[in-house]
Amino acid sequence: MAARGVGLLTRLPLHSQRRSRVQRSISRHLCCPGTVAANVGSEEQPLGGSEDKIPKKRFSEVQEERREQAQRTVLIRCPNNVNEKKFLKYLSQHGPINNHFFYESFGLHAVVEFCQKDSVDSLQNGTHTPKQRTDPVIPFKSRFLNLKLKNSSNQIPQQSYAQTNKQLPPSSKKLFELLNYAENIDDQLNTLLKAFQLTEENVRLRHLTCSLIEDIAAAYFPGCVIWPFGSSVNTFGKLGCDLDMFLDLDEIGKLDVHKNAGDFLMEFQMKTVPSERIATQKILSVIGECIDNFGPSCVGVQKILNARCPLLRFSHQASGFQCDLTVNNSIALKSSELLYIYGSLDSRVRALVFSVRCWARAHSLTSSIPGTWITNFSLTVMVIFFLQRRSPPILPTLDSLKSLADAEDRCILNGHNCTFVRDLYKIKPSGNTETLELLLKEFFEYFGNFAFNKNSINIRQGKEQNKPDSSPLYIQNPFETSLNISKNVSQSQLQKFVDLARDSAWILEQEDKSQPSLSSKQPWGLATLLLPPGAVSTPLSKKKKKPMNEKVKGLLASIKSSTTDSSKGTHGKRAISTQV
Ligand code: GTP
Ligand code: MG
Repeated sequence: MAARGVGLLTRLPLHSQRRSRVQRSISRHLCCPGTVAANVGSEEQPLGGSEDKIPKKRFSEVQEERREQAQRTVLIRCPNNVNEKKFLKYLSQHGPINNHFFYESFGLHAVVEFCQKDSVDSLQNGTHTPKQRTDPVIPFKSRFLNLKLKNSSNQIPQQSYAQTNKQLPPSSKKLFELLNYAENIDDQLNTLLKAFQLTEENVRLRHLTCSLIEDIAAAYFPGCVIWPFGSSVNTFGKLGCDLDMFLDLDEIGKLDVHKNAGDFLMEFQMKTVPSERIATQKILSVIGECIDNFGPSCVGVQKILNARCPLLRFSHQASGFQCDLTVNNSIALKSSELLYIYGSLDSRVRALVFSVRCWARAHSLTSSIPGTWITNFSLTVMVIFFLQRRSPPILPTLDSLKSLADAEDRCILNGHNCTFVRDLYKIKPSGNTETLELLLKEFFEYFGNFAFNKNSINIRQGKEQNKPDSSPLYIQNPFETSLNISKNVSQSQLQKFVDLARDSAWILEQEDKSQPSLSSKQPWGLATLLLPPGAVSTPLSKKKKKPMNEKVKGLLASIKSSTTDSSKGTHGKRAISTQV
């Protein structure tokens, strides 16, 4: 494991190595006392094996820290020719800056985190409402600001422009270069993970975006909280994935100071509605109007109020995120916490999930458009289930996580028991030492031969069970146990999954027999699995082998379209951190 890690580091472009060294030194100098960086989604995560050395924080701890960090942060649209040094000096008159980076999305933006929240107030107090505009403006004051240059002394030559942090995965060409350079298939899976996982900066930007939307919602519901959930926080997020947010109105009541003394009890007068669903629809409708009318940079607001789980969908242009906002969706947040635990327990879990998700995307088994295909969430649960079935198991069942829970972990949501242990240190590490290569091959073999016609997938018990209905694919919802999270999947999509899984198991079997030469330019190992259907001759496809250059072209096109699709709305272009 250690040798592989070193190999990868030496292959990184020089600027990346330099960047991480300088980044660390800047963090040392800038870091305010009392501020803590969470370890999830960070570039600093090890590639495998040594993750035990990283403190494993509880999900709630990470979320609270990130939220507090976001509240001390502002987003600033900057001119391209901004002088970074002068910019930071100008801002630091409001207080010390803990961290900053630049990125591009419809122009240059800076994320600036102050050490104290007061500095944000001070900056806002010193900020002007726009004047001399031809179009009238709605005077909504937020933490999304606009920097103007007053005179040319602030300008700098083009070659000295602030360098920006990338918010997108590498190009397909770059990815295939990286995969081809890898030493073995395990190294390839870890390389893919490293290339696609959310960066520290991207995680900050996600929490900041939630915090900015929370400010808007708080105009109606003071004390509300907007939490990110789904792949932004569950350790399985890919650069370019959507930003799922949940408006938590239960937090409002927690601020109340109850004075129980005396003969009286005071309550707020409130409107009543016929059902929770109607309340949710009304709240989302009004917040949708607010975001649409007053939210700077929020465009394309759609109210999808008749869905099973009503939501608002919009683009936050400045961050480049496609956002889905739901209300009181606390079970989904709990699912994210459960996946966070599974993703943090063993370094092989995330590597395997990322590869399976990229494989599914490359073969159009998943899509950014809703339909009859498998979702990333379902694929993740399938990988978890598979890892529970290994001998010895790599992941514990949900029931065993429940048995480790104490009174404080107890959690009942909408009548569903969502209790499981939240302290990662209470979970015994697995004794299983299987390689990623073996696990990937066995994953494809396992699901290529799974009795989907009669069995369901159940991570609560970690065993196959009889299907309660005739859905082609039945994956039990871990908390709302009478629901199937893959109810939408059609028989033909499932069959496509099975065929491709069998093909892929066969390809990996062949890889075992023919090790690639180091000078080989031909895709091998994981890269071969990401080739489009028909590009590789397999027993099932029985298709004529295409010449390699045609295969590679097809492959590049396929991955390119998947990258573009999955990153809809994200427009970062330049790719180096400004922390250097
Ligand atoms: P991406 O494809 O990277 O966005 O993965 P994701 O995990 O964020 O999936 P998605 O955005 O579709 O959904 C966000 C979260 O909602 C998931 O992580 C789950 O917690 C939850 N979720 C999604 N689909 C279902 C479902 O069918 N049933 C239930 N109970 N929860 C779901
Ligand atoms: Mg999502």
